[in-house]
Amino acid sequence: MAAFPKDFLWGGAFAANQVEGGAREGGRGLSTADIFPLGDRKKGGCFDRSWEQILEAAEDPDDSRYPKRRGIDFYHHYKEDIALFHEMGFKALRFSISWSRIFPNGDEAEPNREGLAFYRSMLDELKRHGIEPIVTLSHFEMPLHLTLAYNGWTDRRVIGFFVKFAETLFAEFHEDIRYWITFNEIDATVHIPLTGAGIVKEHTENPEQGSYQALHHQLVASALVTKLAHEKYPEFRIGCMTTKNLKYPATCRPEDCLQCLQETELDAFYTDVQVFGEYSYTVRNLWKKKGIRIQEEPEDARTLKENTVDFVSFSYYASLVTSAEGAKKEKVSANLLVGEKNPYLEQTPWGWQIDPVGLRYALNQMYSRYKLPLFVAENGLGTLDKLEDGKVHDDYRIAYVREHIRQMALALEDGVPVFGYTYWGCIDCISASTSEMSKRYGFIYVDQDDQGDGTLKRIRKDSFYWYQKVLESNGEDLE
Ligand code: BG6
Repeated sequence: MAAFPKDFLWGGAFAANQVEGGAREGGRGLSTADIFPLGDRKKGGCFDRSWEQILEAAEDPDDSRYPKRRGIDFYHHYKEDIALFHEMGFKALRFSISWSRIFPNGDEAEPNREGLAFYRSMLDELKRHGIEPIVTLSHFEMPLHLTLAYNGWTDRRVIGFFVKFAETLFAEFHEDIRYWITFNEIDATVHIPLTGAGIVKEHTENPEQGSYQALHHQLVASALVTKLAHEKYPEFRIGCMTTKNLKYPATCRPEDCLQCLQETELDAFYTDVQVFGEYSYTVRNLWKKKGIRIQEEPEDARTLKENTVDFVSFSYYASLVTSAEGAKKEKVSANLLVGEKNPYLEQTPWGWQIDPVGLRYALNQMYSRYKLPLFVAENGLGTLDKLEDGKVHDDYRIAYVREHIRQMALALEDGVPVFGYTYWGCIDCISASTSEMSKRYGFIYVDQDDQGDGTLKRIRKDSFYWYQKVLESNGEDLE
């Protein structure tokens, strides 16, 4: 099997809103992630709220009703947690910086120094342990004030606020952080507009158009941040990030294959803009057919064209099937999308279809399209774990990760330049879609239940020791 490059970035990933807690500490303002109550697994993900629910949550002082306000209290446990990542042998940690910790309302003139101090201390800790930070600027949250007063990214002024946020972080941490990702799963803005872009549906005349408009603003903002980085900090590496919605045709019937091709092309348009600097014909055609009109300023085309990314990253959890008769078929979910069931694959209790070969497929597909270095920013198994006698025997998680790493190694053999893999939810955290704690991904168990009860004690699962061996052997020892 192809050896992984010796500087391969092995590690783990999480987002501020799912781990930090300390929602009102250190001068932090509430963020859009803080308004989601505990969801219901049977009903699937909960990514939307009505205006009334948003206002009620914004004024609700009872933080215990909103799991992302407590996270796993990383805000107070970061030293202990980083030491555990080091013990596992992490070379990299992908995390996001909470915008509302730095600019509590999002539109202030000056940053919150206390918020910067928290990340300074966290970065010092990472450095002490030789762990490379990979930072996402926007991961499923923004200051709640920007939703309440601007309807999120639908308002073009938010571009300026975001660029200022990035500029502040670049100036403050340019000696510590080299890898930056502008937006997590930027396609989320179209699939889950409140989570992806802080958009309130009731306040958006044509919600679909509003989401694409917000996305356009994010793409311009991403390009402006990339420009800033390239001009001022040539050592930076700036990446984009998308949900890899891998789809197979249900049969070799030409109609099914065509359907799959068209959906795949459309799913790719977000990254296309960030890599090629322009919208693909597929999305322009979709807008035309739906009568969607995007307001593009005269300078936008040039901004997008001249400021493209250095690497492409993506999340990959599951694959889907599609066919020309899609509407009539049984549906399953895969992260942000739903699609058809694949009879050859098993599912997690949350219905995500496990497909390691799909990771090799995805890596090949993306490299052949973009010809840029690739980074697997997220991959992982979210499932139920049982703590027995202080131990978690999660051989199912080991099997999941082992097979995905095998397929990644095969993609390397295929000639695909993958430079890193950060396992999602390396420590148990709050689920993005359901705000549950019981959907656990971690190599480290956190003693906390869905209601927030527990000691918060960190416990090494069997997979902790397994991943440690994998990292020690640079991906050679997967047994
Ligand atoms: C990705 C997100 O969509 O999937 C993460 O970037 C998220 O924030 C992950 O946690 C897994 O989803 P979930 O809903 O199982 O937490």
